[in-house]
Amino acid sequence: MAFPMRSFLALSFSLCAAAGLYAADRLVGGPYVVYPAARTATIGWIVESDGATVTGDSGQARRFPVLRSEKITMTGLKPGETLQYEIPEVGGATPEDRKGSFKVPAAAGAPFQFVVFGDTRSRDELHRKVIEAIARTNPDFVVHTGDLVADGYDTLQWPNFFSIEKDLLRKTVFFPVLGNHERDNARFYDFFDVKTAYYSFDWGTAHFAVIDSDVSNVSSSKSARERFWADQTAWLEADLERSQKAAFRFVAMHHPPLTVNLSSAGHVSKETPTLEPLFEKMKVAAVFAGHDHNYQHHLKNGVHYIVTGGGGAPLAKAEAPLEGITVKVESVEHYVTVKVEGDKAHIEAVALDGHPIESIELAQ
Ligand SMILES: [Fe+2]
Repeated sequence: MAFPMRSFLALSFSLCAAAGLYAADRLVGGPYVVYPAARTATIGWIVESDGATVTGDSGQARRFPVLRSEKITMTGLKPGETLQYEIPEVGGATPEDRKGSFKVPAAAGAPFQFVVFGDTRSRDELHRKVIEAIARTNPDFVVHTGDLVADGYDTLQWPNFFSIEKDLLRKTVFFPVLGNHERDNARFYDFFDVKTAYYSFDWGTAHFAVIDSDVSNVSSSKSARERFWADQTAWLEADLERSQKAAFRFVAMHHPPLTVNLSSAGHVSKETPTLEPLFEKMKVAAVFAGHDHNYQHHLKNGVHYIVTGGGGAPLAKAEAPLEGITVKVESVEHYVTVKVEGDKAHIEAVALDGHPIESIELAQ
C-alpha cells in the first residue's frame, strides 16, 4: 500500500515535536485570568522548558529554566456570568490542573467582593497559608499590592510564586501592582498582560486605579523618572475625574503614602505622599498599598489609607502611630476583604490565624 509523502512528513514532524521539541515543557504557572472588562478577559499560563545550566569557578552548577507565557483573550462575555475554562494540554499537566473558572465583572448594582493582599515574596509556608485563607473567601477578584517575588529577574522564583498561588488564581481574577522587588522586569508585564504599569478598571459600582510607585526602577535618568511621575499623575487625575459617578474610587499602589515605618528613611516613598491632595479632591474612598510588611490603617481628610503587606515577607514592626491619623497598626500576616453592595462597602482585615484585625464601613 502506498503511503502518501505528505502524511509521512506530517507524522514525522508530530513525532519529533512530541519526542523532542516539547518533551521538556511543563505547566508551571496558572491558569489565571487577568483584566476582565465588561466583555473581554484574558486567560494566561506559564510553560517552562529546559533552560541553560551555568557553572561558575566553584564548580557549582545552576539551572536557569526558560519561561514562556501563553494567553488567549475572550470576547463577548456577559456581565456577572461565571465561566469555566480548560487550557490546552501542556507537558504532564492533568485535566484538573488545566481547568479554572472566573466571574465576569458584575453589572452596576450587583454586589461583589474582593481581597487585597501583598508582599508574598518570601517565607513560602506563610505565603501558602495566606493564599489558602484567601481562597476560602471565594473572592470575585484579588488585588496584589506588589512584591510578588523577591527578584523579578529570577526565573526560578516565578514558578514558585505560581505554584503557591495556583488554587486561588484558577478560581478568581488577578490584578497585579508592580512592586520594587519585581525590578520592573519584563516578565511582570508579559505574564499578566500588563500594557503599562498604571491602569484602571471598573467592577460593579466601583472604579479601581492601579499605579506604579516604583519610580527608582523606571530609569537611571532623574529627568526620565520625573517625567514618568508627571505623566502618571496626569493620567491618574484624568482617570479619577472620569469616574466621579462611581459609588467608590479605590487606588492601589505598592509604596504607601502614609506609614508608621519611618525608622528606615530610604524605605519611605518621596512620590506617593504628593498624591494625597489629589485623592482628597477626587473623593477616593480608600488607597491600598503594601511595601511595609504589616497591617496599617490611617484616616486623613476623609481618605482611608490601608497598608496590607502581610502576605509572607518578614514582618515589619508596628512603629509609633501617626498622631491624629493612624487608626490601627498590627504586625501580623493577614489579608483584607472588601464587600461592596451598591453605595455601601465593608472592609475587613483578617489575620492569618482568623482573628479580626478591624472592620471599616464605607458609604458614598
Ligand atoms: Fe516593597
